[in-house]
Amino acid sequence: MGLLAAACLDSGNIPGVTADPDASAKAAFPEVPAAGDAMKLKERGSKLFQGLGCQSCHSTKDDRSGLMGPPLGGVSDRVLERNDHDPLKGRRWLVMHVKDPLMYPSPFADQPEYRGTHMPPNPRVTDEDLRALVEFLWTLR
Ligand code: HEC
Repeated sequence: MGLLAAACLDSGNIPGVTADPDASAKAAFPEVPAAGDAMKLKERGSKLFQGLGCQSCHSTKDDRSGLMGPPLGGVSDRVLERNDHDPLKGRRWLVMHVKDPLMYPSPFADQPEYRGTHMPPNPRVTDEDLRALVEFLWTLR
């Protein structure tokens, strides 16, 4: 498993890309962004969400109509619940999940309606972009 994960996550020495999802999580979020930065990150993250094709499987609201992934409205509340209500730990989990969803699946992965659908990994997204993307996810209601 370790070997397989290493092979899948080979970043090919792209600047700003860390092979290990846990290292990425810490690099992307050494701390929770200050309110002023969060706005800019959110705007950039919204474009990344489109550019990376996330919207082809996910609604940013509370509906799922015809999509393969769970709705992402309120995702930060769910993530906080599973991470001791710690906003830093929650953001870091999102980084790891987006980077390697098979290694860090959400509880939705166990639900019958999502079985057989795999969220694709994103090993080549830079830590900086992961920061913006997750800050965007954090604001979804
Ligand atoms: C091929 C469809 C597909 C694509 C594309 C996709 N996802 Fe997913 N996503 C899923 C499925 C299915 C799940 C539930 C199973 C799991 O956790 O892996 C999921 C789960 C999630 C969750 C967990 C939700 C929760 O409440 O815990 C987040 C966050 C998420 N995706 C974000 C993203 C982002 C960001 C992108 C783009 C980089 C993306 N997804 C691209 C299918 C997809």
